Amino acid sequence: MLEISQRTLNMGTENSFVVLDKVNQMLSEGKPVISFCIGQPDFRTPDVINDSAINAINNGKSTYTPSTGIPELRKAVAGYFSRTRKIDVNPNSVVIGCGGKPFILYTIASVTQPGQGHEVIFPNPGYPIYSSQTIAQGAKPVLLPLLEEKKYNFDIFDLKRKMNDKTRLLVINSPQNPTGGVLSKDELYEIAEVVKQFPKCWVLTDEVYSELVFDTEFNSIAAIPGMQERTVILDSSSKTFAMPGWRVGYAANEKLAPHLTRWVTNTDSCAPHLCQCAMVDALNHEKSWEEARKMKKVFHERRDLIVELLNGVPGFRCLKPGGAFYAWPNVTETCKMLGCEDSNVLRERILDELNVACLSDNHFGHRNEGEGEHLRFSYATSTEHIREGVARIKKWVEENRN
Ligand SMILES: Cc1ncc(COP(=O)(O)O)c(C=O)c1O
Repeated sequence: MLEISQRTLNMGTENSFVVLDKVNQMLSEGKPVISFCIGQPDFRTPDVINDSAINAINNGKSTYTPSTGIPELRKAVAGYFSRTRKIDVNPNSVVIGCGGKPFILYTIASVTQPGQGHEVIFPNPGYPIYSSQTIAQGAKPVLLPLLEEKKYNFDIFDLKRKMNDKTRLLVINSPQNPTGGVLSKDELYEIAEVVKQFPKCWVLTDEVYSELVFDTEFNSIAAIPGMQERTVILDSSSKTFAMPGWRVGYAANEKLAPHLTRWVTNTDSCAPHLCQCAMVDALNHEKSWEEARKMKKVFHERRDLIVELLNGVPGFRCLKPGGAFYAWPNVTETCKMLGCEDSNVLRERILDELNVACLSDNHFGHRNEGEGEHLRFSYATSTEHIREGVARIKKWVEENRN
């Protein structure tokens, strides 16, 4: 009999895509769906970047490139990382890939050995790929609960307890998906102190939302003395410049760069040539940064709006997230009011009865004991949709609560 490998069967998925399929089906049936599902900016890619890609097409930039990426882009990324992380990043440490996501696989595969009990620690709730790729690569997932009382950061003592000689990788993500939590400089220092006690532990810092920090400044763990060498900095064009479909991401670590590159060679060969060319302009042109800042301002305003509106829904309790474009309300009380067994049942009812789509905490890992039920609202959608979508939920809860 033909068989599917166990590791493939064990691998998780990104449920936002599953819910999105349903949303698209409902839209095609003419239902007035408002979607808070998808984690991609609802803006057009800035024209300066589009024009650059058109030039690249016209200039025949349609070949394979080195798997590391074109030298101009590696240089531009190194400059960007050096400027924004306040460290010295050499272009030779930078690798370009098809989005940020593949570097999660490449890093886990490069630093863990299947069957050796090597452990990867990552935040829970968290971006689901950390878990699915840890499992697929034969390493052991170790979950680090994010706590509401810590503004959705983890307890440093919990990290200390979980680190051991088998720990090969700590993944951190700030600003965070799905909670919007941001790690402060002090917290990063505390994490670094713990990690430094384990010489075999690498750090993957997923910074794809680094340009979307609203109330404070962005800090990277790579900037802490002694950390750059063991840290893979991961970032991408998707969220910063509204380019998720262009598939350009970048990672930097001096020692791992040649190994990440071999992974690129063995999977995608290279990121799309014309997108790489456009990315050079995206990073180097003031005009594209101007556009990025405008988008950030809109996200900031929407953040304030959606948090205020969600807190007006009976039973919802929503902290103000410091970054990214997600709100993560605690909906435990609302579940009780409506007799919903958990947040997933609440989510399904909101979709089926109100045509409002969002995600629930089970899409981002295991529910943390004692932390209650949560939904994730992506506010990468218009102000009108935010007002209308939350108003539908509020009215419905008010009318149906016990
Ligand atoms: C935390 C996090 N990391 C990485 C990614 C991957 O982004 P991309 O592959 O588009 O760069 C995402 C996308 O949603 C994300 O939320």
